[in-house]
Amino acid sequence: MERTFLMIKPDGVQRGLIGEIIKRLEQKGFSMVAAKFMLIDDELAAQHYAEHVGKPFFPDLVKFITSGPVMAMVWEGDQIVALARKLIGKTNSLEAEPGTIRGDHASHTRFNLIHGADSVESATREMALYFKDEEIVNYTRAVQPWI
Ligand code: RTP
Ligand code: MG
Repeated sequence: MERTFLMIKPDGVQRGLIGEIIKRLEQKGFSMVAAKFMLIDDELAAQHYAEHVGKPFFPDLVKFITSGPVMAMVWEGDQIVALARKLIGKTNSLEAEPGTIRGDHASHTRFNLIHGADSVESATREMALYFKDEEIVNYTRAVQPWI
């Protein structure tokens, strides 16, 4: 079973979409195995978005991601890294299809509600940034054989 790092961004929290976003992930058949409601400081933001340091949108991105609480989470499921990215939708607001979280609820590229790790390697790196091993819960939901 694969794990990924997902995070409801400050706009998702402020707009009251935590429940809606978690509902969609649950309905897909994924299992939450860790969660933390927290603030991100500049240092963690730079580590999280290390690949974007130096890009023109980086300062705004850090300002945004540190502007209020986020819901950092680890979720589990078969092929979850790629499947969660599909469920989230494209980064560019004009390309985020209706039916996806961003396509249905976000209308701006920079206010796109949720982060999802973009590869298994990124997922491993990001999980370690936000969670200690012992904060990730090992369990199997009884419904798992039906998913
Ligand atoms: P995220 O990492 O936040 O899940 O988003 P993503 O993979 O879909 O997109 P990524 O390329 O990693 O970009 C990170 C965040 O930077 C902002 N962004 N702005 N051209 C732009 O103005 C631009 N490109 C990216 C977005 O907020 C994006 O989520
Ligand atoms: Mg990304």
